[in-house]
Amino acid sequence: MIAFGALLLQFLQVTLVVSQAKPGCQDKCGNISIPYPFGIGENCFREGFGIDCNSTNDGLVPFISGSNIDITNISLSTGEIIVNQYIARDCYNRTGFQVRNNRPTFKLRNSGIFTLSHTQNKFTVLGCDTYAYIGPPYDDPDFQTGCRTICKEPNMVIDGSCSGIGCCQTSIPKGVKKMMIVIQSFNNHTNVSSFNPCGYAFLADLNWFKFHGLSDLLSKFYEKNNGEAPLVLDWAVGNQTCEEAQRAPNSDHACVSENSYCYDSTNGPGYRCNCSVGCLGNPYLHGGCVCGS
Ligand SMILES: *[C@@H]1O[C@H](CO)[C@@H](O)[C@H](O)[C@H]1NC(C)=O
Ligand SMILES: *[C@@H]1O[C@H](CO)[C@@H](O)[C@H](O)[C@H]1NC(C)=O
Ligand SMILES: *[C@@H]1O[C@H](CO)[C@@H](O)[C@H](O)[C@H]1NC(C)=O
Ligand SMILES: *[C@@H]1O[C@H](CO)[C@@H](O)[C@H](O)[C@H]1NC(C)=O
Ligand SMILES: *[C@@H]1O[C@H](CO)[C@@H](O)[C@H](O)[C@H]1NC(C)=O
Ligand SMILES: *[C@@H]1O[C@H](CO)[C@@H](O)[C@H](O)[C@H]1NC(C)=O
Ligand SMILES: *[C@@H]1O[C@H](CO)[C@@H](O)[C@H](O)[C@H]1NC(C)=O
Ligand SMILES: *[C@@H]1O[C@H](CO)[C@@H](O)[C@H](O)[C@H]1NC(C)=O
Repeated sequence: MIAFGALLLQFLQVTLVVSQAKPGCQDKCGNISIPYPFGIGENCFREGFGIDCNSTNDGLVPFISGSNIDITNISLSTGEIIVNQYIARDCYNRTGFQVRNNRPTFKLRNSGIFTLSHTQNKFTVLGCDTYAYIGPPYDDPDFQTGCRTICKEPNMVIDGSCSGIGCCQTSIPKGVKKMMIVIQSFNNHTNVSSFNPCGYAFLADLNWFKFHGLSDLLSKFYEKNNGEAPLVLDWAVGNQTCEEAQRAPNSDHACVSENSYCYDSTNGPGYRCNCSVGCLGNPYLHGGCVCGS
């Protein structure tokens, strides 16, 4: 009986930690956990946090609702999600003829709850005759940044050193919700196409990319990654601060669990919730934060 009680308690703890969806709602899509305020299907998510869980060739895949942006991780404690984003490339054949050039964009209808993370992402450009920039997808941008990378000889490229020879990196400003990447070359990869036929550019999780020298300058880099890189997005509830949301009449404050607190987003409008120190779980659900003794 005692053993059974202990088992039951353990089972409850595991259930509490693992299932963070609204009660009665699907808590996973494929093998990705979907914690509330995110959710799949009617009455299972907070406004703006809907997820489409669609069947694809790779099995069930979660998408930001109404978009073709697929999600690989959702974190409540950091307020981040990770999505797959296309890598830009600009390719030439041996006679300097441009054979490929794409301009990936990231944009969501009504901009939504997501902002590109300026702390967790870096804009990276790879190539020996390449420049690329990132900015909002408008003719008259309110920011634009990028870099240029060259390498005249393959032996000038140094593994692990992303500083302008074969690789360059830059940060993006805070508060950016939409982007487009443009990539070009100055000399059509003349004299470098044998070891570097393509330039690449992407905004991606800074922990994901480590420069591996010449091997990253070959087209295998693109194929190895299926033409995609992980992009970190910050998310937030609403467009008010914690204080404004608490004061608002008919407040629909998201931090509903006991032992939770509210904090303002530092990247764009809105706020997020956290369980108090010593507690774990989902601050967005009633009874969601479970505290140790
Ligand atoms: C989820 O599934 C994908 C594809 O099957 C796999 O690559 C990945 O390692 C899995 N992740 C976890 C955490 O199991
Ligand atoms: C996912 O399924 C929904 C509902 O059928 C559909 O509206 C949406 O376009 C699909 N998304 C993708 C990326 O296929
Ligand atoms: C998602 O991110 C969390 C940390 O925020 C990590 O503990 C977890 O393993 C990640 N899950 C997957 C499937 O990558
Ligand atoms: C490069 O492409 C152009 C246009 O298709 C073609 O005329 C030329 O022969 C190609 N060069 C090589 C080396 O394949
Ligand atoms: C690059 O190629 C284009 C046509 O593909 C040509 O018009 C241009 O002159 C070339 N530029 C250089 C620097 O070779
Ligand atoms: C390519 O190499 C030739 C021979 O070394 C040189 O004359 C030419 O300026 C180089 N072109 C470029 C674009 O670097
Ligand atoms: C704040 O969000 C509400 C509800 O989503 C919306 O009606 C309102 O226009 C937004 N206000 C601003 C300043 O964006
Ligand atoms: C939220 O809680 C986690 C885990 O206790 C902690 O690491 C993190 O710093 C907290 N974030 C904020 C903004 O308080």
